[in-house]
Amino acid sequence: MEKINSLTGMSDLIGEKNKDSNQSDKIFQVEKKLVEIFENYSLQEIRTPALESEKLFNRSVGDSSDIVNKELYTFKDKNEKSISLRPEGTAGVVRSIIEKKLDNENHRFWYLGPMWRYERPQKGRYRQFYQAGVELLGYEEGLSELEMISMVISINLELNINNSIIKINHLGDKETKEKFCKSLKKYLEPHTSNLDKKDIDRLNKNPLRILDSKNTDTQNILEKAPKISDFISDEASNLLNTIQNTYPDNKIEIDHSLVRGLDYYTGFVFEAISENLGAQDSYLGGGRYDQLFEDLGGKSLPAIGMAIGIERLSYIANNEHLESTLVSFIILSDKIEEKAYKIAHNLRSCNKKLIIEVQLSGGSLKSRLRRANKDNATFAIIIGKDELDSDTVILKSLKEENSNQKQLTIDELEDFLKSID
Ligand code: HAM
Repeated sequence: MEKINSLTGMSDLIGEKNKDSNQSDKIFQVEKKLVEIFENYSLQEIRTPALESEKLFNRSVGDSSDIVNKELYTFKDKNEKSISLRPEGTAGVVRSIIEKKLDNENHRFWYLGPMWRYERPQKGRYRQFYQAGVELLGYEEGLSELEMISMVISINLELNINNSIIKINHLGDKETKEKFCKSLKKYLEPHTSNLDKKDIDRLNKNPLRILDSKNTDTQNILEKAPKISDFISDEASNLLNTIQNTYPDNKIEIDHSLVRGLDYYTGFVFEAISENLGAQDSYLGGGRYDQLFEDLGGKSLPAIGMAIGIERLSYIANNEHLESTLVSFIILSDKIEEKAYKIAHNLRSCNKKLIIEVQLSGGSLKSRLRRANKDNATFAIIIGKDELDSDTVILKSLKEENSNQKQLTIDELEDFLKSID
């Protein structure tokens, strides 16, 4: 029989402990921590569909972006309607708020889910990947920028991310952006014979994106090009300085070549990178998109947001401290021991931080302890016939050198488990 494999760039995440970063248990720990942080910042969850009308992404992410140009998964449904798998979450959130006529009030949202981009897969770059996102809707430039960066810093802190650099820039408002693009285009036009096809395309569709070019010839030409810093207002420059001054203990760099790969940004933009990630070094990014609500047919509503790449964050997160203590529960009997199982059932409510793994298949004590060690358990609780008769258990520590063990009453065991942090 022919075997069927997963599609290129789409992984199965399976929860095997302590293997690599794409294991679902590590991903889950990171997601759980992010949700805690989001709730701490008073955000509410929003869930939008994975499939949207193709038009939505053309008009938001923009047809000058690689995401729409080359990477969108688009196909016809049974009604010949052109639909796309979402490549990102912002467009769907904005569509939803306009559709529900909620675009006259403020909202603070978070979301989490898979996104799809037909990219060339490599380490840290997949065709199906997971993002957690934040969108603050209805907030003018100012405090909401500080709040977004505060969240980035909390993520770094809570997940023990070292070597993070937060890059910030300001693209100006719509008019400033247009003026700068015009001047950049004027400067670059005499150089077009030295630009590659991709950069000429960018120049025609969205000149800002050329600042992102990896081509060294283009980069050399750009050295003498007009700079966005000469176009943005004093308020915009002050905002960047204020952000740096508010968080002096963090590496926040003003980078005027930071433009981001989606067309909807206006004003403040940012990215966080880590050198531990290799070529795909950005683990989150976002910015302000004050024009998007109107562009999608809604009321004028200022907004700012960001998205975090879960696989990349999970790769750099030092989240051993987030792992719960695993207790392996071994009932040494081949038949169902109701009394022993009841003890396991009741233990689960005594400390919610613990994982109590009842071993569901049999074997000798030796093989079961081997299994507990393989699962990286910290303790084993063993109940054999003697313990059942005397209403006790054996508690064995699996992490200490001379794995000591002791016999405890059920009350003593409960007290001990409650004391584990
Ligand atoms: P983005 O920069 O396109 O922004 O994506 C955010 C993050 O998703 C990236 O920093 C990266 O960590 C991760 N990511 C992107 N593509 C891939 C991929 N192919 N494989 C693995 N991870 C990937 C957005 O998506 C915007 N919607 C962010 C935003 C929200 N702006 C305002 N609100």
